[in-house]
Amino acid sequence: MGNLAPSCAVEQVEIRRLSAAEVREHLDGLAAVLVDCVEGGASVSYMAPFSHEQARAAFDGFAAEVEHGRRLLLAAFADGDPVGTVQVVFAWPPNQPHRAEIAKLLVRRSARRRGIAQLLMERAEADAQAEGKTLLVLDTVTGDDAERLYARLGWTKVGVIPGYALYPDGRLCDTTVFWKSLATPSPSNEG
Ligand SMILES: CC(C)(COP(=O)(O)OP(=O)(O)OC[C@H]1O[C@@H](n2cnc3c(N)ncnc32)[C@H](O)[C@@H]1OP(=O)(O)O)[C@@H](O)C(=O)NCCC(=O)NCCS
Repeated sequence: MGNLAPSCAVEQVEIRRLSAAEVREHLDGLAAVLVDCVEGGASVSYMAPFSHEQARAAFDGFAAEVEHGRRLLLAAFADGDPVGTVQVVFAWPPNQPHRAEIAKLLVRRSARRRGIAQLLMERAEADAQAEGKTLLVLDTVTGDDAERLYARLGWTKVGVIPGYALYPDGRLCDTTVFWKSLATPSPSNEG
């Protein structure tokens, strides 16, 4: 790599954890990020054509989940508008209180390759840890930019599931499953 200066590139970007009310306040901005990613071909649950109204409805549903304490939603703001977002979804089974899933890591195309996804992920991991989560999992389209990002951030690749999901245009895509431990090593008895 050359002399990248991601710290300069992300200087004007602020990562914030949003309350349910703040998610609703920024519904249009968050929906715009999701629509842009789906229009760009990202396999993130939704099929084309995908409207702004559908994206607003999706984030309205996420706001309810935030309200009930079932997920965290972070957003990256530039000039007051969301340009990226990520969620930490808490596992529901009573026997997995320590586990959460990373979902919907999205950065709009015009804001990519400036380190915003990395900032979002670092904050998501820190906030998950602060909530007492010690194990994170995620899945992502095999071979996409996100896969390199997770590997760079120390996630462990479990493997690839062929034909797991569809791209917005209906083509099948493979999925790579990752995990990351946030557990702090117990102090050594030695010394
Ligand atoms: C995957 C995604 C979130 C990455 O967002 P991003 O903000 O571009 O990610 P980053 O900027 O942190 O890293 C992307 C690349 O830019 C590089 N980069 C970071 N800062 C940079 C800078 N200042 N100048 C040049 N390159 C830079 C990174 O090294 C990385 O390089 P690599 O792809 O060769 O590994 C984005 O592409 C996206 O939203 N995709 C569609 C949705 C999706 O697939 N989400 C994942 C679902 S699990």
